[in-house]
Amino acid sequence: MNQKPIVTVGRKLPDRVLARLAQSYQPRLNSDDHLYSSAELLEKAQGADALLICHTEHLSAEVIRQLPDSVRIIANFSVGYDHVDTAAASQRGLVVTNTPDVLNDATAEIMFLVLLGAARRAAEGERLVRNNAWHTWSPTFMLGTQVTGKTLGIVGMGRVGQVCARRARGFDMRVLYHQRQPLEPQQAGAAQFVASLEAMLPQCQFLSLNCPATAQTHHLLNRERIALLPDGAIVVNTARGAVVDDDALIEALLSGKLAAAGLDVFNGEPANIDPRYRKLENVFVLPHLGSATHETRDAMGFRALDNLDAFFAGREPGDRVV
Ligand code: 8YV
Repeated sequence: MNQKPIVTVGRKLPDRVLARLAQSYQPRLNSDDHLYSSAELLEKAQGADALLICHTEHLSAEVIRQLPDSVRIIANFSVGYDHVDTAAASQRGLVVTNTPDVLNDATAEIMFLVLLGAARRAAEGERLVRNNAWHTWSPTFMLGTQVTGKTLGIVGMGRVGQVCARRARGFDMRVLYHQRQPLEPQQAGAAQFVASLEAMLPQCQFLSLNCPATAQTHHLLNRERIALLPDGAIVVNTARGAVVDDDALIEALLSGKLAAAGLDVFNGEPANIDPRYRKLENVFVLPHLGSATHETRDAMGFRALDNLDAFFAGREPGDRVV
C-alpha cells in the first residue's frame, strides 16, 4: 500500500503508543478525548481503513451496519469485546481483534486490591481519617474479614483468573474455580475445578468474577446464587458489570448476607452506575482501573498495533476474535 492506512482512534492513547501509531498509519485522533456518540464515530470513520477503539465505544449491530466500506478491521484496545456486536461484524466481513495477556497482571493486582479493600474496610477507614472522624481505637474498632487461609472461588479461569489464582497462593488461600471445562493441570496449578457453580458457591468465603460478559454470563450473580454463598461472604468483580444483578447484590449487602463487595466495574459505568453503590459503606469501589498502569496501557496499545500491522501486511492478526 502506498498510502499509510487511516486509523480512526476512539480515545486518547498513551504517548508511546501514539508515536508508534504515527509511524505506520495516518491517525485520526480524538483531540479532547471526549466520548464519541455513535453518529460522531461514524463520521470520523468515513474513509478510514481501521478503527482503534476502547470498551467505551459501543459498536452495536446498527452502528456496524452503517460503517463505511473502507473500514476493514476493528482493533480493540481491550481484552473484552462485549462492546462490539461480533455477529454483525462477522456478517460484514470485518476483522475484530482484542488485546489479551498483557493486562493479566495489572487486573489481578486490582482484583486483590478490591478484595483486600472490601475485606479490611480500607475505604471506610480512609474516609474516617480524611474526614477527621477517627476519634477512637479499641479492640473491636472497625473489624473486617481476614483473607489469609480462606477459600476463594473464581468464576472464569481465563488468563486473568489464572493469575488471580496464583496471587492467592501468597495469602495461603484455597482456590476453587468454575467454568465450562477444567484447565490442563499445569494451568490450574493448585486450584480445584468445580463443575457446577451451584456446588462451588457454598464453599466460597470470597468469590471473584473473572468471566467475560456474554449472553450466558449476563446477571450470572443473581439472588439465587448469592443465597448459596456462605453468610458473610465477600464478592469481587473486576470483569464486567453485566455479570452482576445489581438489585440482588445491593440487597445482600444491605441485609448483611454479604459482608462486603469490591467492585472495579459496573453496569452503566461510568455515569449511570446504580447510585446505591455510592452510599453503601461495605462496598469498596474503583473506577474501572483493572488495566490502568503505564506499563499495561502501553502494552495494550502495542498489542493493538501488532494486530493492525499484521492485518495491513496481509497476515492473520494474532488476536483475531472475528
Ligand atoms: C480496559 C478492560 O482498560 O481490556 C478490558 O477488557 O476491561 C479494561 O481493563 C478497557 O477495556 C480499555 O478499553
